[in-house]
Amino acid sequence: MTITPLMPVYPRCGVRPVRGEGAYLFGEDGQQYLDFASGIAVNALGHAHPRLTKAIADQAATLMHVSNLYGSPQGEHLAQRLVDNTFADTVFFTNSGAEAVECAIKTARRYHFANGNPQRHTLITFDTAFHGRTLGAISATNQAKMRDGFEPLLPGFAYAKFNDLEGALALIDDNTAGFLVEPIQGEGGIRQASHEFLTGLRKACDEHGLLLVLDEVQCGYGRTGKFFAHELYGITPDIMAVAKGIGGGFPLGACLATEEAAKGMVAGTHGSTYGGNPLAMAAGEAILDVMLEDGFLENVTAMGDRLRQGLEQMIPNHDHLFDSVRGTGLMLGLKLKSDSRAFVAFARDNHNLLLVSAGENVVRILPPLVIDESHIAECIDKLSTAARVYVPAADD
Ligand SMILES: Cc1ncc(COP(=O)(O)O)c(C=O)c1O
Repeated sequence: MTITPLMPVYPRCGVRPVRGEGAYLFGEDGQQYLDFASGIAVNALGHAHPRLTKAIADQAATLMHVSNLYGSPQGEHLAQRLVDNTFADTVFFTNSGAEAVECAIKTARRYHFANGNPQRHTLITFDTAFHGRTLGAISATNQAKMRDGFEPLLPGFAYAKFNDLEGALALIDDNTAGFLVEPIQGEGGIRQASHEFLTGLRKACDEHGLLLVLDEVQCGYGRTGKFFAHELYGITPDIMAVAKGIGGGFPLGACLATEEAAKGMVAGTHGSTYGGNPLAMAAGEAILDVMLEDGFLENVTAMGDRLRQGLEQMIPNHDHLFDSVRGTGLMLGLKLKSDSRAFVAFARDNHNLLLVSAGENVVRILPPLVIDESHIAECIDKLSTAARVYVPAADD
């Protein structure tokens, strides 16, 4: 037998973390890494944050799981806090981002069904989008690398170019349910929706009775310096998928919706065994406690500005390699002139700096939201040291 016990769907690298503390990870072999990947935008409070670990430990010792057949004081409390702090009137808790997206798709379809328009089932989505790995979520992207070999996929998606408002509007027909879009594409290469594009989609939804469904799994929960990225645009969605930062490392996601958009989601239409269990809710409460404290989001913006400034100052010294900086807050991308995966591997293996590659040869820089200036200085130092000695392969 040659297959590994862990199904070999990830090209895993040699770093084998066994412990984390703040912005640092420690490998099995004792190596220390500066973690500016944060489990791909998950560890919002860094590793082993005492408030998060205590909340989880206390809850685990009290009550870990009960069925959603019973009343949920824990779920009601966290849902109410999310309602109080967002556009939403109601929340469904999931265990991952893909499940939050699934719930968002179902909520959108069910809205039109409840309105007597079951033919309005098609969501317009966008190129280089990433919504997760379930069959529904891979159907919502036109990226062949996610879809190949998994057909037949879920019908009911149409694909437009990201940031092409006219192209998206041209796809609206009698079957359209709405738009599903990331305000800032993460996997796609830190591609930010233009103001005109996102506000134009909102306007079209209002005019045509469609739903604006946002996927803020990666760009939401404080990452941009706002609680949610759509706040940067002065609009609100009808439905929104959230995950990653919401649990800070505990597997938690959520689908948020307005009362109107959720009108079809009545008893029996959706469910999850684990979704919103007391342990997950304790993690979510602890994250929210910290994130909503005065100054937390302002610090994300300030650190994001400092990091961007540092990156921009560094670029001219290595302009054979670095092209530009993109993104907002602590969701930044460094566009390379050669293969980003090779540079990410080089920085990791030679300079103990963890970053993530994304589309368009962009290196994603997604540190914990609790970093300070010393971490930024260390990151810039590691990046420029790496850039000084890095030689891109001839075919990059
Ligand atoms: C924008 C976006 N949506 C959905 C997902 C899927 O989340 P999960 O891997 O938790 O299922 C991701 C994961 O990277 C994401 O970035």
